[in-house]
Amino acid sequence: MCGIIGIVGQVPVAPLLVDALKRLEYRGYDSAGIATIEGGELARRRAEGKLVNLEHRLDEEPLAGTIGIGHTRWATHGVPNETNAHPHFSNGVAIVHNGIIENFAELRQELVEDGYAFTSQTDTEVVAHLVSRELKRGARPVDAAHRALKRLEGAFALAIMFQGDDDLIIGARNGPPLAIGHGKGEMYLGSDAIALAPFTNSVTYLEDGDWAVVRRNHVEIFDMKGEPVERPRQQSVGSSFLVDKGNYHHFMEKEIHEQPEVISHTLAHYLDFTEGRARALDLPFDFAKLDRLAMSACGTAYLAGSIGKYWFERYARLPVDIDIASEFRYREMPLSGKSAALFISQSGETADTLASLRYCRDQNVPIGAVVNVRGSTIAREADVTFPILAGPEVGVASTKAFTCQLSALASLAVMAGVARGHIASEAESILIRQLAEAPRFANQVLRLSDQIEKVARELSRVRHVLYLGRDTSYPLAMEGALKLKEISYIHAEGYAAGELKHGPIALIDETMPVIVIAPHDRIFDKTMSNMQEVAARGGRIILITDEAGAARTSLTTMDTIVLPDVPEFIAPIVYALPIQLLAYFTAVAMGTDVDQPRNLAKSVTVE
Ligand code: G6P
Repeated sequence: MCGIIGIVGQVPVAPLLVDALKRLEYRGYDSAGIATIEGGELARRRAEGKLVNLEHRLDEEPLAGTIGIGHTRWATHGVPNETNAHPHFSNGVAIVHNGIIENFAELRQELVEDGYAFTSQTDTEVVAHLVSRELKRGARPVDAAHRALKRLEGAFALAIMFQGDDDLIIGARNGPPLAIGHGKGEMYLGSDAIALAPFTNSVTYLEDGDWAVVRRNHVEIFDMKGEPVERPRQQSVGSSFLVDKGNYHHFMEKEIHEQPEVISHTLAHYLDFTEGRARALDLPFDFAKLDRLAMSACGTAYLAGSIGKYWFERYARLPVDIDIASEFRYREMPLSGKSAALFISQSGETADTLASLRYCRDQNVPIGAVVNVRGSTIAREADVTFPILAGPEVGVASTKAFTCQLSALASLAVMAGVARGHIASEAESILIRQLAEAPRFANQVLRLSDQIEKVARELSRVRHVLYLGRDTSYPLAMEGALKLKEISYIHAEGYAAGELKHGPIALIDETMPVIVIAPHDRIFDKTMSNMQEVAARGGRIILITDEAGAARTSLTTMDTIVLPDVPEFIAPIVYALPIQLLAYFTAVAMGTDVDQPRNLAKSVTVE
């Protein structure tokens, strides 16, 4: 993770670096720092914690200079303090790094034996010393950087600056993304196009193994052998404005409330509501000929895929394997010539999801990707991109991206069902009409915020919570638990309701709230039996259901959240909202940092 930025500019760059780091803060926020060349000397300011601390530091001690690099950190090696914050220096070399240098221990040992003293616990500092050692051995800056890069193993995006040359930044990529921004008499480097958007929308994405010599008026890109390579210049679609919270207290709250709108944009991208038909897409595979769909993703995106599995199998009779990407990438899954792969990622940059995609590419399997960030690595490497039109998601806990991922997957499942002959024309228009209703139902759920806030105040007093659900409500139960632990730090588990008696029932006593997600569907009565088992052991039940479900239950619950009656197909999209609101209000009641919870980052570009 971590976000990096570099500017070879015409005007003082410190405020521009900080502004760009604000756009990159989603990548990590343990510490931040910038370095410039001020009066011919490298100078830096760093601060532990959020970017605002660095801004205070710069208010007290401003930095001049028209060239600079910056970094916002998600700690991997070394605690998040000022000493471990980037940029790291070594005798006239300044460096910022995103990723992990896997052979750093050997390199560190070698450098220590060579007399280099380390001031931080980071893996990054070895790169600064390696470059500076090459300079000492007589190499010019560009060659010194190239020689050092060849020694590195692992994943990295780097920006390197040299005292004595205020018209040079070296950028390098192997794994995490790095884009070059082309300005007029100014050049930029950044972890993504959004960071560069206020400066330029003309960008070149480096590919793995590329490194670039970036000067004010010229950029050259090389491969690891040192051969020049051509990479296309593209117009980025990064939005140049920094999204704000509007009248909401947190980005997460705003993003929860945006859902009716963005779900509807996403659905409209795939579905023609007037005709009641799924739109025809140009696909690199034919759904009718597939015998299996391999899906893979991380975090919330994985749980969206887990719900998608139910839809593809039920409505399109297409078997789906869904894997956590960090498992998929190493488990050597056999893929037949009749398989296709589908990856789901809000950021389009998650390292494990990208590695899984590349595994499938090596197996010659056609690849689709459901992504939010256009221009991201996963979007670029897939054969077909299925965009979700969620807009920028700032809150680290994913909300609107989740329901938009569900909307895209539900649409694709309908498309697949039609192509495979399992959804007839009439059924297609019924399913599409049901999906068209999802934004309206989502809006109705948002009106229950006051009631959900009251329930959340109760939740904020407990230490453990269990979420139960069956069918598509099972992955949703896991998503509810994930949301709660991410932002409130309350321990939560999501379980298949039928699995309760195989273990978690032992946890239940009068202190343990059990949140049951149970729309009144075909298997409602089965879930009710599991609720009885909880009630019989003194567990406190919070039931999320609809009117029919509430009428049917005879149990006394701690609370019942009654949602509108919705068709079974779209229930996961609508039921996602109360679980998001529950987590949100619980975290607010506990006073945690809702948008930037501890230890997390929005985009995870390390393994
Ligand atoms: C991180 C984020 C999660 C997200 C996951 C996958 O853990 O905090 O919210 O679901 O990464 O990210 P992606 O961008 O691939 O959807």
